[in-house]
Amino acid sequence: MSENILEMRHINKSFFGNQVLTDVNFDVRRGEVHCLLGENGAGKSTLIKILSGAYVCESGEIILDGQKLENITPSSSIQAGISVVYQELNMMPDLPIYENVFIGKEFTKGIRFDRKRQIQETQRYLDIVGLNVDPRVLVGELSIAQQQMVEIAKAISNNAKVLVLDEPTASITDKEVRILFDTVKDLRKTGIGIIYISHRMAELFEIGDRVTVLRDGCYVGTKNISEITERELTRMMVGRDVSFDKVSNPGRTDQVVLEVRDLCYKNRVKNVSFDLHKGEILGFSGLVGAGRTEVAKCIVGAYRHSGSVKFQGEELPCSVAETAQRGVVYLSEDRKGEGLVLMHSLSENVALPNLKKLATPLVKKGKLRQIAEDYIQKLRIKAYSAGMEAGQLSGGNQQKVVISKWLYSDADVYIFDEPTRGIDVGARDEIYEIMLNLVKNGDSIILISSDLVEVIRMSDRIAVMKEGELSTILENDETITQEKVLSYAF
Ligand SMILES: Nc1ncnc2c1ncn2[C@@H]1O[C@H](COP(=O)(O)OP(=O)(O)OP(=O)(O)O)[C@@H](O)[C@H]1O
Ligand SMILES: [Mg+2]
Repeated sequence: MSENILEMRHINKSFFGNQVLTDVNFDVRRGEVHCLLGENGAGKSTLIKILSGAYVCESGEIILDGQKLENITPSSSIQAGISVVYQELNMMPDLPIYENVFIGKEFTKGIRFDRKRQIQETQRYLDIVGLNVDPRVLVGELSIAQQQMVEIAKAISNNAKVLVLDEPTASITDKEVRILFDTVKDLRKTGIGIIYISHRMAELFEIGDRVTVLRDGCYVGTKNISEITERELTRMMVGRDVSFDKVSNPGRTDQVVLEVRDLCYKNRVKNVSFDLHKGEILGFSGLVGAGRTEVAKCIVGAYRHSGSVKFQGEELPCSVAETAQRGVVYLSEDRKGEGLVLMHSLSENVALPNLKKLATPLVKKGKLRQIAEDYIQKLRIKAYSAGMEAGQLSGGNQQKVVISKWLYSDADVYIFDEPTRGIDVGARDEIYEIMLNLVKNGDSIILISSDLVEVIRMSDRIAVMKEGELSTILENDETITQEKVLSYAF
């Protein structure tokens, strides 16, 4: 019996003549967690989609448990023992959990589906992943995090030999990450091979045995996690050093641009008051669900709230369109739901919030393209052209498009909600650079982020929220540590 449960050899793939994977080699041992690392658009998800039969590769071979797989289709791949939890969720919201789990492999009793058995079995898998909900609940009623756990339960139920998790933690809370990691560690003991994709380095070091790095669709190397540092890995991935030091912001002033007083929304935001200064980056920290996104949505008028929000001394109207026009914009954490129109081209997405500015009197396609191409360059968005559909971009590159479309809106106050989630370290650096340029020009930023390293690195002051209340605002000086910030969040 070979040590490897999976071998992928000399894999090549291109889209419309653009080479996306070049001669990639990748193998997974029995009972190991093998991490796949690379910048946005490096080809990680594409490699996985070839394995799962979603894409067909031009050349190369795939050997699973000693058997060569030929003409892989989505169903033959599941049959063979490959289970994938994708970056984007793929559940049917109008069906109950158990039907989602057993879709395509229903138990039957005579000519009918054995509903009772499916519910029982589903319960068993939900227990394994630690999800405490009734299997009959509709998937659409679950939180994103819970849907993610159902995806994993479903993957396990396929008797997988190889389980792939493509950025499983991008939308789940710390507590759920713990449960997920425990599940992964248990699964590893059963001898299945696990492929794990994430941009959070700390996770790779916690859960991974080996790591393979891809850059621009090429294989860079494979290392034992215990024998490599974060700096070395970053270097393999982006081909240069990236700084992790705290930035200094020369643009900061004491002039108040945004004055928030006694903001209340349902029981999710409770009497929140603070000032935002001109040229300042104000970090917002706290646990997921602490009410940070709700505060942002109240400020821009997406939620009907009580209390007052004054921008440059004047009360802001409760309307997203009007606040945006006055110069206060919110960049959503949910890029699929609110941020992007996936069927539209990149340039149309950039233009969407800015049609008024661009229509003089007709929207000029050429002008649009030029703006989009400008941002493709600045943010190093990996796209063949500005006319490419947003849905064809890699996950992280879609996030960059969301950011660029708001940057073009030329606002005074930017509220960024988890702007670097799913974004690789190199591009993160570029987004930080853009934020710094904004504040240098006198704009102000509210930075909502669950990444404490990011908050401490970028903020002038740090507001910490807990259960809908603002527990404190800390000056980000030498005395700040992650522990200190966290102590106000619990
Ligand atoms: N269906 C498609 N049509 C055209 N191009 C595609 C398609 N799917 C992926 N690509 C391109 O292939 C390249 C690799 O994308 P892929 O999704 O594999 O990246 P990734 O490494 O998973 O990145 P991320 O970290 O952002 O998720 C990108 O340049 C992307 O635009
Ligand atoms: Mg991906």
